[in-house]
Amino acid sequence: MKAVPASVGAMSTTTPITQSRGTVPDGSPHDPAPLAIEARGLRRRFGSFIAVDGLDLRVPEGTVYGLLGPNGAGKSTVVRMLTTLLRPTAGEASVMGHDLLREPHRVRSAIGVAGQYASVDENLTGAENLRLFARLTGLSGRDCRTRADELLAAFALADAAGKQVHGYSGGMRRRLDLAISLVAAPPLIFLDEPTTGLDPRTREQMWDVVEGLVARGATVLLTTQYLEEADRLADRIGIIDHGRMIAEGTADELKDAVGSSTLVLTFPAPADEERAVRIITALTGEDAPASRTAGRVHVPLPEDASAAATDVLVALREEGLAPVSVSVDRPSLDSVFLALTRHDPAPDAHDAPAADTDTDTEEIA
Ligand SMILES: Nc1ncnc2c1ncn2[C@@H]1O[C@H](COP(=O)(O)OP(=O)(O)OP(=O)(O)O)[C@@H](O)[C@H]1O
Ligand SMILES: [Mg+2]
Repeated sequence: MKAVPASVGAMSTTTPITQSRGTVPDGSPHDPAPLAIEARGLRRRFGSFIAVDGLDLRVPEGTVYGLLGPNGAGKSTVVRMLTTLLRPTAGEASVMGHDLLREPHRVRSAIGVAGQYASVDENLTGAENLRLFARLTGLSGRDCRTRADELLAAFALADAAGKQVHGYSGGMRRRLDLAISLVAAPPLIFLDEPTTGLDPRTREQMWDVVEGLVARGATVLLTTQYLEEADRLADRIGIIDHGRMIAEGTADELKDAVGSSTLVLTFPAPADEERAVRIITALTGEDAPASRTAGRVHVPLPEDASAAATDVLVALREEGLAPVSVSVDRPSLDSVFLALTRHDPAPDAHDAPAADTDTDTEEIA
């Protein structure tokens, strides 16, 4: 799966980018990174329910942006708006330099989309599905076959190429769906929960594919429920909840923002743990008490973590206590997510007062 052919993620879009792009300041005024996506105040209402509530988004070209959020947060709605499948109620966006509302056809030819729910034809074979999509992008019969074969090989589907899709496993379907989204070698790819329901090995393969695409210059916006996935792939992460961006930054920035590191100590005997907790809490104060769980002593560390950890170890030593192991746990992206989105489940649109005439299939014409 690592061997994605150069053409898969190549920048050879057939659509010239005619409009000047937005840019991100990167410290060098002469070489600013162009933005693949720039959205301002994006909003979507379903009846009286607001699914996306004034979202701003800036995704530099050649990067992976991870959109994280609990079920119902509005991730798929954002993707569907940015891919022209759903008209925003308000706001504006530029996608690969094209105005989302005024030039939706140009946006469409610059992007690939692999949706949360696969859109392949179950009764066709994998190869037939790919050739069909290749045909739709305007390739000739022979080029369709070549492109389909390249993608089948890249996504380890060559052996299953002649099998009808209803006989595919979940992982094979996902790979086929992703392959289809890349038929036109788009410079910007939207992946809505690309690895949900996949086994760990297949998930790793998908991650390799995404990394291969980005290595070849593509930009990827992915939504995910897996924090590990965002941590591994995304250059920047936006956490959305109730349709609003509640935190944004690199994985490290988000982890730093949410909390401190923890010093984790183990001792030879439970009695030592108890004594250690008393000694450490006397040092750090009741506001940040040490605690014991599962045979470990946890000490919340302040910003100046290394000095505080040293103080703790010196204090223990003075009392004749020697830990068996010492480690520092950084906050995980999981703890960031939980800390920021800890609330009752998002209300569903179906709980909201009766919807007006908004429909699910309101594409941007
Ligand atoms: N066509 C629609 N009509 C009415 N409500 C909708 C429609 N599409 C989405 N919603 C509602 O908007 C909210 C956001 O949905 P969305 O699918 O964007 O969430 P999500 O973050 O992708 O969730 P998940 O993680 O479950 O995929 C939900 O409450 C959903 O029920
Ligand atoms: Mg979704």
